[in-house]
Amino acid sequence: MTVEIEYQGASAAAIRSHYDVSNDFYKLWLDKERVYSCALWDGDPALSLDDAQMRKLDYMVDGANAAGARRVLDIGCGWGALLTRLVTVHGVESAVGLTLSDEQAAHVQGLGDPRVTPVVQNWADHEPEQPYDAIISIGAFEHFADFGLRRAGRVEAYRRFFRSCRDWLPPGGRLALQTNVKGNNAAMSRQTVRDLLFIADRVFPESELPWLSEVLEASERAFDVVSVRNDPDMYARTCRQWHDNLAACRDEATELVGEQVVGDYLRYLAASVDAFTRRHLGLARIIFERA
Ligand SMILES: C[S@@+](CC[C@H](N)C(=O)[O-])C[C@H]1O[C@@H](n2cnc3c(N)ncnc32)[C@H](O)[C@@H]1O
Repeated sequence: MTVEIEYQGASAAAIRSHYDVSNDFYKLWLDKERVYSCALWDGDPALSLDDAQMRKLDYMVDGANAAGARRVLDIGCGWGALLTRLVTVHGVESAVGLTLSDEQAAHVQGLGDPRVTPVVQNWADHEPEQPYDAIISIGAFEHFADFGLRRAGRVEAYRRFFRSCRDWLPPGGRLALQTNVKGNNAAMSRQTVRDLLFIADRVFPESELPWLSEVLEASERAFDVVSVRNDPDMYARTCRQWHDNLAACRDEATELVGEQVVGDYLRYLAASVDAFTRRHLGLARIIFERA
């Protein structure tokens, strides 16, 4: 017997408190396509952040076997960089993006590409009329389990996500997932503990990161794992560049969102550089294939 559980991740209000701060604010310090997740410098450490973000998107598209597909779903589509790349570079006919942020969806709609459809909807409420050929989710899984859930609760919450993705794919269909995970260096300084609590309270409320083993356990009976990689140094590098970009336009950013928000973001980005470098956090990129 299958027991259905309710969605147990961050609420729409909690997600909007972060992503609806201001589109122009994020434009100041992210890359030019506004990709808000770890980039990929594989094989070429000299790449610019702009290029390393596109390389990451292409890695995920390849992993999901999404090139040339008819319909692709992007769960947590941000400002639409992947959706646009799918239809303009990878020959995808139609790309659907889910986000909980009204501002992000308005931005994607404003791009005006009829092949791209942004939807303001929780993945847990998504009921596609037709299956997708491939699914990609980058930097959203971090929000799928509420802060304070125990391991069993998190695994159940993630299991529901994997079951839904499985139902939306044909046999052999692929899901490419990128998510922050907890790292295995448990020896934290008092400052790291304070910073991580600050991030949980003020920056990403109602969200808690998974252990890699929880992600894999939750995928059992829905997906086989094709590949797993962990790139914490690449996320340290990404966050360092975001931090330095924001610090360089502090006055302009302060005019847009105020001193408090800018100060909070600088602290969260600096703390993230430190946490990835010290392996308190990891960055998992996992390719799954429908069992
Ligand atoms: C860190 S951003 C990543 C955006 C994009 N994938 C990228 O790499 O630039 C996280 C995204 O996940 C979305 N999100 C978070 N929880 C979600 C949920 N339960 N259902 C749908 N989207 C969600 C947010 O609205 C946001 O668009």
